Amino acid sequence: MQKRKILATIALTYANGSIHLGHLVEAIQADIWVRFQRMRGHECYFISGSDAHGTAIMLKAQELGITPDALVDATQAEHKQDYINFLVNFDHFHTTHSTENYGLSCEIYQSLKKRGDIAVRTISQAFDPQQGIFLPDRFVKGSCPRCQSPDQYGDNCEVCGATYSPSELISPRSVVSGAVPIQKESEHYFFQLQHYETMLKEWSHSGHLQPEVVNKLKEWFEAGLRDWDISRDAPYFGFEIPDAPGKYFYVWLDAPIGYLAIFKNLCQQRTDLDFETFFGVNSEVELYHFIGKDIIYFHALFWPAMLEGGGYRKPTSIFGHGFLTVNGQKMSKSRGTFVNGSTYLKHAEPEYLRYYFAAKLTPNIEDIDLNFNDFMNRINSDLVGKVVNIASRCAGFISQHFDYMLAAELSEPALYQHFAQTGDLIADYYEKRDFARAMRETMALADQANQYIADKKPWSLMKQEGHQQEVQAICSMGLELFRLLIIYLKPVLPQLAEKSEHFLQVSPLMWADKAVPLLAHRVAQFTPMMQRVTLQQLEAMIAIND
Ligand code: MSP
Ligand code: ZN
Repeated sequence: MQKRKILATIALTYANGSIHLGHLVEAIQADIWVRFQRMRGHECYFISGSDAHGTAIMLKAQELGITPDALVDATQAEHKQDYINFLVNFDHFHTTHSTENYGLSCEIYQSLKKRGDIAVRTISQAFDPQQGIFLPDRFVKGSCPRCQSPDQYGDNCEVCGATYSPSELISPRSVVSGAVPIQKESEHYFFQLQHYETMLKEWSHSGHLQPEVVNKLKEWFEAGLRDWDISRDAPYFGFEIPDAPGKYFYVWLDAPIGYLAIFKNLCQQRTDLDFETFFGVNSEVELYHFIGKDIIYFHALFWPAMLEGGGYRKPTSIFGHGFLTVNGQKMSKSRGTFVNGSTYLKHAEPEYLRYYFAAKLTPNIEDIDLNFNDFMNRINSDLVGKVVNIASRCAGFISQHFDYMLAAELSEPALYQHFAQTGDLIADYYEKRDFARAMRETMALADQANQYIADKKPWSLMKQEGHQQEVQAICSMGLELFRLLIIYLKPVLPQLAEKSEHFLQVSPLMWADKAVPLLAHRVAQFTPMMQRVTLQQLEAMIAIND
């Protein structure tokens, strides 16, 4: 198999809130995929970071009475730790507020300008006269112009679904100060996306995008590619635009450039990594962005256009996923269905969530639901009841009666072959991000392993004279099958894999290890590897909200 060079990213999380279970869908999906690639022997890097800029972060810092820099530093550290706690294994978790990102953002902007892609126009916008700042749509509230529902945001009505601009709201108010916003003019810089239409159409049909994304793009092409407003007026927390005093890059301009900048920062720490190899226009490295469905426009249109204009390579693919709902409901603080990562960890193990998401995730952009009953059943019946149970049923005999020694021969080579071959199918599912199928196949194998032990009844053979060798053969076979299951689950359950590697006394399992059985090999003492989960534990997550 040829060794591939891969770089994967997840979206950069805004530095004004905590990591919640929705963010974790994406991080866990990408982490599983990355761990799988590494187990296959490929060179796969994984980066992300905090998205530091924008009005929301500036105002949040103001509210807390700290500088935006201090807020970003604290939040970045918190996010980094949250991801580590969920066993998400980044090579680097950095921030968009860096010198590398400032340099790259200016450089790409200058290239676009040189190519004639930047237009300057005066526009009129909502302005808070008390605070002296222009107000993004979400910072103006008022009554819906269509259905008159009070307290609606400036871009759309949550009651009737109407979309409009903040100037159409009835009795508008600034969310920041409560003042009545006025309309004020200022000069803005626009990126003329249309210049890239031909390239984008070609690129989107290169066969790398999910069918849903291709369809979305088709709709957007039909609607026409509009100029994109990439500047914001001071005061703003971000990068000042070169040669445009008082104008800042809109956060969404420098956020994706952050992927490049974060990697560049990593290259400076590691002599074995070269930025050009990964992002040069002729790069052969595979580049994948894992993102949610809400930010496809930015990643599938603006981003490849900016890369093209800036003289960099484009992504190999964009992997979009759906949104997480909790017990069938949108995650919302008021409904009590909003769960932060740190809250989850007070009540349950990270691997439970990783397995549950894996069992639900497909390559499609569909929403996934976290249902507590379903969650409990899958953990207790699949992981504890099926997988770990195989080892605990076999280990005792091997340690007590055979001095921890596995048999010298495989007693059921055909069964072993079947497990090893199914591993190829499972690998295929992992590669395609069809984790739900990968888990289903693995659990079907676990059923077969349990069936094998149930049929052979080592516990009753043990009591009969002259059947000792048979018991060793059966239990060794059982542990062999367990080892293969652990290989197949390792991208999802790295801690369970580590405990199993210790128990089996093997070095870190790679995918290729499925081909070679452990014969006449000594294992260690078996200790319980995973606990059952209760409904009470899960319900506690939404009972106390922090
Ligand atoms: N900062 C931007 C991304 C910039 S990338 C250059 C952003 N940040 S975010 O914090 O709002 O979202 C980060 C990621 O989490 C996005 O991919 C988003 O789709 C995803 N999710 C946020 N809420 C989610 C759910 N409820 N469910 C699944 N994913 C969700 O967007
Ligand atoms: Zn309405």
